[in-house]
Amino acid sequence: MSSPPFVIALDGPAASGKSTVGLGVAQRLGLRYFDTGLLYRALTWLALQRDVDLSDAAALVQLIDALAIDVDALGQVWRERHDITPLLQRPEVDLSVSTVAAHPMVRQQLVPVQRALVRPPGLVMAGRDIGTVIVPDAPLKVWLSASTEERARRRAQQTGENFDEVLDGMRRRDHQDASREASPMARASAAIEVETDDVAPEQVIARIVELAHQRGLRPVERA
Ligand code: CDP
Repeated sequence: MSSPPFVIALDGPAASGKSTVGLGVAQRLGLRYFDTGLLYRALTWLALQRDVDLSDAAALVQLIDALAIDVDALGQVWRERHDITPLLQRPEVDLSVSTVAAHPMVRQQLVPVQRALVRPPGLVMAGRDIGTVIVPDAPLKVWLSASTEERARRRAQQTGENFDEVLDGMRRRDHQDASREASPMARASAAIEVETDDVAPEQVIARIVELAHQRGLRPVERA
């Protein structure tokens, strides 16, 4: 009999390192990686493209049916055979994504989409509400944290944007995400906090791999 899917719920604020760490952990453990932020980003991008009113939850929900995106193993997002990954990181998406993600109807519609990804052998799922709402029975929940300044520094370095602007935008987005009524960004009670300030990604990855092993996930057998 095959084991049930092993889910690592990886939550945390903006630019806390979820993608780098999540991909690394998934590779080490032979699991898939999925960044749920991409769903909210893709929806926001499409809404902006189509001039949909971002306060109109019903219109946004309708748009989810038209999303039709594929996310590959490296986290690249494809739509109608185009790689739309870079478009989803644009400043206008950053600016509006938390407004789109705050609608309870939008979040509700995306719950089954995310739960459908939970298949053997399992996956590392990154987001804001994975441990609290999407997969509350995940055997390992991690809350990735870093100071706001450190996160802004990392994001500014990645994108070449101005540090102060990134810092402002990040504070605003974190506040919106943590204060919304519908599944706010929150650390699940059982989540283990992994602090990433001044810690190399490889060390953070090793720590989470160790936690997964402690919870019964066997190391991947390599040929
Ligand atoms: O990469 P970064 O950490 O900056 O953000 P992201 O993970 O791509 O998420 C973008 C936005 O999507 C967040 O600021 C949230 O508003 C929303 N989001 C959410 O509400 N719930 C999730 N599970 C994932 C993302």
